Amino acid sequence: MIRSKIAGIGMYLPENVVTNDDLTKVMDTTDEWIIERTGIKERRFATRYKDTTTTMGVEAAKIAIERAGISSQDIDFIIFATLSPDYFFPGCGVLTQRMMNMKEIAALDIRNQCSGFVYGLSVADQFIKTGMYKNILLIASETHSYALDFSTRGRNISVIFGDGAGAVVLQPTMKNDQGVLSTHLHSDGSDAELLSMMNPGFHAGRFVSAKKPPVPEKPYGGLFITEDLLAKEDLYPYMDGPAVFKKAVIKLPEVIMEALNQNQLKTSDLKMLIPHQANLRISQYVQQKMGLSDEQVYNNIQKIGNTTAASVPIALCEAWEDGKIQDGDLICLAAFGSGFTWGSALLRW
Ligand code: COA
Repeated sequence: MIRSKIAGIGMYLPENVVTNDDLTKVMDTTDEWIIERTGIKERRFATRYKDTTTTMGVEAAKIAIERAGISSQDIDFIIFATLSPDYFFPGCGVLTQRMMNMKEIAALDIRNQCSGFVYGLSVADQFIKTGMYKNILLIASETHSYALDFSTRGRNISVIFGDGAGAVVLQPTMKNDQGVLSTHLHSDGSDAELLSMMNPGFHAGRFVSAKKPPVPEKPYGGLFITEDLLAKEDLYPYMDGPAVFKKAVIKLPEVIMEALNQNQLKTSDLKMLIPHQANLRISQYVQQKMGLSDEQVYNNIQKIGNTTAASVPIALCEAWEDGKIQDGDLICLAAFGSGFTWGSALLRW
């Protein structure tokens, strides 16, 4: 049976380190509040005119491709996961293809926010298993810092997010004891606006749930962007933090257990869980609920912040580079985020 394996992995973090104290200079917050509620001490922000979502993804991809022992010309499919694309359209997949001088291969963008990498891994896995592609480049990259509200109004969101990129190359393997064992994807759009950025959007306001204050209805230039809305600066992400927290701590353990159960494995079989780095408190809650040891759960949000789609591959890459993942280890990747969408992947390294 063909399975897909991670043949190479890479990451890129912008050099600009932003500490909690740096944020206190522009908004009403404190180092203590941020550490207590999120675990985050610092994050990286992209540098304007140097880093974009695509350029950071390409830097991570170059490392992953080199570690896979192939060249960019061998890649036959690009999957690019991001919620912060360089352009509204086209996607970062084709921009990557151009930047890396790749041949005329397929490129797909995934807009699944925090679960984008896990969704991308699942898509790649299907294409490898059917034999359609042999060298898939999966990138997840985010530049949040260009679009956050750094005034006090946006502090519950802006202190959480950071920029960065991770990438993997997936290849087929015939070994039974290696590669992706299964992937599990879920979504529930009933609370879509609880973690959202609705504008600019062609239908902004039309689907607003009762839980979010409706945007004004007076159309502006044919779109539903109004002067009122611009004045309120409702062009920034919105998050009902407590609601996201409550849902995440239910759905993450569920989807991790789904993966273990399908493969008749137990939590004690896990060498490492790499959870989406949403908030250290969420990871700790999941760890405690599942009875996992500190060694079994990898966290790096303290110094990187929440990089949404990029967080899982960055954490996976860092854990591997630190020698914490060895051949044969059982690894679970799990993510939950906006949509809501969530998922897990179980793999034997
Ligand atoms: N600094 C200081 N105070 C802040 C603040 C900040 N950066 N952000 C919010 N506050 C204040 C609020 O204004 C509120 O003040 P009030 O009580 O006077 O109204 C108070 O802190 C509590 O706000 P609340 O939103 O209830 O805090 P919380 O304990 O739920 O923590 C989050 C907020 C965002 C840290 C938390 O809800 C969370 O982590 N949720 C999950 C979010 C997440 O993981 N998102 C990513 C998903 S992929």
